[in-house]
Amino acid sequence: MQDSFGRVIDYLRISITDRCNFRCSYCMPPEGVPLLEHSEILSYEELLRVIRILGQYGVNKIRITGGEPLIRKGIVDFIRAVREIETVADLAMTTNGSLLANRAYQLKKAGLDRVNISIDTLNPKEFSRITGGGQLSDVVQGIKSAMNAGLAPIKLNVVVTEVFSMEDLSYFIKQTYEFPIAVRFIEYMPVGRCGVKAGSSIKAIKNSINTAGYGMLEKAFSIKGNGPAYYYRLPRAMGVFGFITPMTEHFCHTCNRIRLTADGKIKPCLLANQEFDIKHALRSGTSDSKVAELFVKALQGKPLHHIWGNDREGTNLLRNMSQVGG
Ligand code: GTP
Ligand code: 5AD
Ligand code: SF4
Repeated sequence: MQDSFGRVIDYLRISITDRCNFRCSYCMPPEGVPLLEHSEILSYEELLRVIRILGQYGVNKIRITGGEPLIRKGIVDFIRAVREIETVADLAMTTNGSLLANRAYQLKKAGLDRVNISIDTLNPKEFSRITGGGQLSDVVQGIKSAMNAGLAPIKLNVVVTEVFSMEDLSYFIKQTYEFPIAVRFIEYMPVGRCGVKAGSSIKAIKNSINTAGYGMLEKAFSIKGNGPAYYYRLPRAMGVFGFITPMTEHFCHTCNRIRLTADGKIKPCLLANQEFDIKHALRSGTSDSKVAELFVKALQGKPLHHIWGNDREGTNLLRNMSQVGG
């Protein structure tokens, strides 16, 4: 599939639930958001149909997101069913990791290729503060299980906020040195009504890594991924650092993705309010080709790049990140 600017769209991000057991302050407001009824969210059968249809149009990369995708019942069977769709070349999940410890092996066996796990600080108190009560130890256990299960490459997503410290950076440097993981620093996007301040700049983080005594970062290539991160490696390190810079250096010209929300809306751009309903079509006997047409039509509305409000506060966006899946 192509959009009206000639960008090839081959990556579908599916939010399978709006629910989450965390309340990350960059992702949703402290009081949470009104939750969808089960009947409002697309069933696994409906999602599988969409994946099959889009597979015929070259969409071969699938990422499962939430809220927290591991909250939804039947997730392992769903992954197994997605894996059985021949067109799916890369099947990944973005998770907060807290429920991964017992699931990693089952997920891998069912056919999940890899996971991206959010971890914004290694300080248990700060971690609990930013996630609205999350236990750091659960996530660390989840990461270990994912490594043991071979859900590789494992990517750690660090949204750089006020809780990110130099101690965290030292820890992440050691981790990338010793393990074949990707630690990715993500600029905080002020989406929706979230209450947190951005932290150090990506430039400052790169400088700190370069002066930490391990040598200078070198460009790293061929890290499996379909997203906006660019990667660097310290000399002789097993792992890499990734940088995702939607605020200071956006990557919209390379955008290859489209999103589906849990309540059945096609979202051509993460940072635009346009949405196109697909649920009604899926529930009213619409043919596969007509469903595909709805995606093609939605893509025609995909903007060339996102535009923040003048104040860059993102207050004009209707959904919080938790309702889109990042
Ligand atoms: P891979 O590269 O395939 O591993 O995935 P990814 O980095 O695209 O996925 P992930 O869910 O881990 O997202 C990492 C960060 O990138 C999150 O903060 C997302 O919100 C952000 N992100 C992903 N896609 C987009 C996008 O299209 N636009 C913007 N602005 N941010 C995005
Ligand atoms: N800015 C940047 N990244 C965000 N994420 C959630 N909210 C934001 C935000 N406001 C990230 C999470 C997760 C992924 C789905 O998106 O850390 O890794
Ligand atoms: Fe939940 Fe992920 Fe949002 Fe945190 S970032 S509240 S873990 S969906």
